[in-house]
Amino acid sequence: MSGDDTVKSNYMHNVKAIFGCDNRMNLLIFPLSVIETISRESKILVIGPRNENDIYSLIGLGFKKENIKGLDLISYSRMITLGDMHTAPFEDDSFDAVICGWTISYSTNPSLAALEMLRLTKRGGVIAVAVEYSTLTEKDEEQLVGYNVQEFDRIPSRVNSSEQILELFGDRVGPVFFKHDAPNKISHTADELVPNVSSVAVIFGSN
Ligand SMILES: C[S@@+](CC[C@H](N)C(=O)[O-])C[C@H]1O[C@@H](n2cnc3c(N)ncnc32)[C@H](O)[C@@H]1O
Repeated sequence: MSGDDTVKSNYMHNVKAIFGCDNRMNLLIFPLSVIETISRESKILVIGPRNENDIYSLIGLGFKKENIKGLDLISYSRMITLGDMHTAPFEDDSFDAVICGWTISYSTNPSLAALEMLRLTKRGGVIAVAVEYSTLTEKDEEQLVGYNVQEFDRIPSRVNSSEQILELFGDRVGPVFFKHDAPNKISHTADELVPNVSSVAVIFGSN
């Protein structure tokens, strides 16, 4: 499925990698797993898991399978509900933690996606968001992959730092538990996909 606030390339771009996975989500999952307001009973939503890898990573850390849900525009799995992160098919305050890794970049309205994450997370719950660090311009991106993943004309600017992520959540940001601002500053280039591309991540409590 698709969504009005999602980049047009999403399906084509992500379906070709549906079974691809690396362990970059550990940057969110490992620190989140030791925050003391989170327990092994916590209800967790993973937005944009693409496949079951993120969910099994949480299960591997002791979280209960029945308490974890994935939400994605593409799904082959009963563990991943089909739906749009801008209009998610879950009740208010359904989750103790919402994890959105490398997915907000596919939104043309990241503020709306953030509002939806806040709606789904209980007050005092934890929100974890990460994006790829990128210095690619529109032209670079086209040269690298043959099309634009991001719709640069529909977003105010590329979300590329922990501060920009936090800004999306405004005054609902409570304690910030973890910030990771692409310390190596390695971006893909117009000429090549680099293997050790940097990431930006932030984990905070909602108030
Ligand atoms: C790059 S993958 C991230 C996979 C995994 N979390 C990781 O970091 O390796 C992004 C995923 O977000 C999904 N996605 C994009 N826009 C979405 C939306 N509006 N609602 C739900 N999922 C979305 C895509 O279909 C894709 O599966």
